[in-house]
Amino acid sequence: MGIKKIGILGAGRAGTALARSAASAGIQVKIAGTRPARQMKYHLMQYAPHALAVNAGDIAEDVELVALMVPQEDLDDVDTGSLADVLLIDATNRWEDEPLPPWFQDSLDRGLSSSEAIAEHFSQTRVVKALNHISHWDLDADRATKTEAQRALAIASDNPRDAAVVATLIRQLGFAPVQLADLAQGRSLEPLGEIFNEVLGAEDLVQRITKDPAC
Ligand SMILES: NC(=O)c1ccc[n+]([C@@H]2O[C@H](COP(=O)([O-])OP(=O)(O)OC[C@H]3O[C@@H](n4cnc5c(N)ncnc54)[C@H](OP(=O)(O)O)[C@@H]3O)[C@@H](O)[C@H]2O)c1
Repeated sequence: MGIKKIGILGAGRAGTALARSAASAGIQVKIAGTRPARQMKYHLMQYAPHALAVNAGDIAEDVELVALMVPQEDLDDVDTGSLADVLLIDATNRWEDEPLPPWFQDSLDRGLSSSEAIAEHFSQTRVVKALNHISHWDLDADRATKTEAQRALAIASDNPRDAAVVATLIRQLGFAPVQLADLAQGRSLEPLGEIFNEVLGAEDLVQRITKDPAC
């Protein structure tokens, strides 16, 4: 049994690419940005025609998981309560010197990976790091990079059951999932990590991380 319904928070380049890719795989998609759902109609007609616009506070209702695709600098505007008890895929990255909310910077200064910082902030949410180390261009179903070996996408999680759910989604999207040891290993997926934006098959991805683990 595959994933049937997902929510995507963030309707920009990454969020709409995932929405198109998921819709191509037969998955129902709810999507939200900062604007009220009724103001998303023309944006979605162009970028994610099969997705259903909802208000951000309703993104977790009646879905199996939510993908977080909002810039990290905007995370203070995401209501933590609306994501309570949710399986959340943290697909965010810090881009160069993007300013961060104080709690985020504080967690990084204490040595946490970005996903551990997000897990600490969204303390009632089950956070898994995935889908951040592939560009929106390559994620898009129509333009997905074709390689001889199926491209692998990594999953960093402290919870094997949550990781397995995300692995199912990744398979449905047409990629090979690779489960890493824990959430802390999500560091390897970050912009300065070994596999960020690298087109690798599963074996090469594992080798790249084990050879030179970032954490
Ligand atoms: N671009 C990529 O190739 C790529 C790939 C993987 C991961 N990522 C990561 O995904 C995140 C988003 O990147 P992007 O390139 O998609 O950025 P983007 O094109 O600028 O889109 C950002 C989206 O987030 C929405 N947003 C901002 N604050 C929000 C909030 N509080 N609640 C709901 N939605 C909110 C914005 O809504 P409005 O338009 O209504 O303001 C916009 O739709 C970043 O962390 C990035 O590093 C990007």
